Amino acid sequence: MKNIILVGFMGVGKGSVAREIIKISDYMSIDTDDLIESMENRTVKKIFEESGEEYFRNLEKKVSLWLQNSVTNTLISTGGGFYKQKNLKDIGVVVFLNSPFDKILKRIKSHPNAAKKLKKRPLLNDLKKAKELYKERLPQYTAVADIIIDVTDKSALECAKELLLKVKTDA
Ligand code: S3P
Repeated sequence: MKNIILVGFMGVGKGSVAREIIKISDYMSIDTDDLIESMENRTVKKIFEESGEEYFRNLEKKVSLWLQNSVTNTLISTGGGFYKQKNLKDIGVVVFLNSPFDKILKRIKSHPNAAKKLKKRPLLNDLKKAKELYKERLPQYTAVADIIIDVTDKSALECAKELLLKVKTDA
């Protein structure tokens, strides 16, 4: 089993899809934001506030090198900006979860903890800027992806099944 790296915009459902994948396969999953939060013993939000985005990106780089050297057979869910790491392809198969910006926003807003979901993501505080960021990143996500899954109007379980099938077919 190769590592699978889930990339995609904030709120697209990387975590939800990862949770379904581990239920229906032999994969275990880790999340780059979780690794960073435990390394630093503070939330991503606090890291952005207290130390700035550049500091956070350096932590992502550290995590990416560790993943490449030390992690195998694992499903890796990533923060929305992690796709910029240069060694992505050396870590595993890159799967881009895609959906239009408005659908992503709708998904977040329909969540029972919507306010919390928005608040914990510094780059979603200003929705106009977030939309610009989405537009800027979309071609970049597509360029790094080995596999693209359109998650629009699909359940996390449907996406998980589609993903596992595509990974198997492409291997
Ligand atoms: C970020 C996405 C966040 C988190 C940080 C920066 C980004 O992760 O890593 O707030 O640059 O898109 P999620 O994609 O899990 O929200």
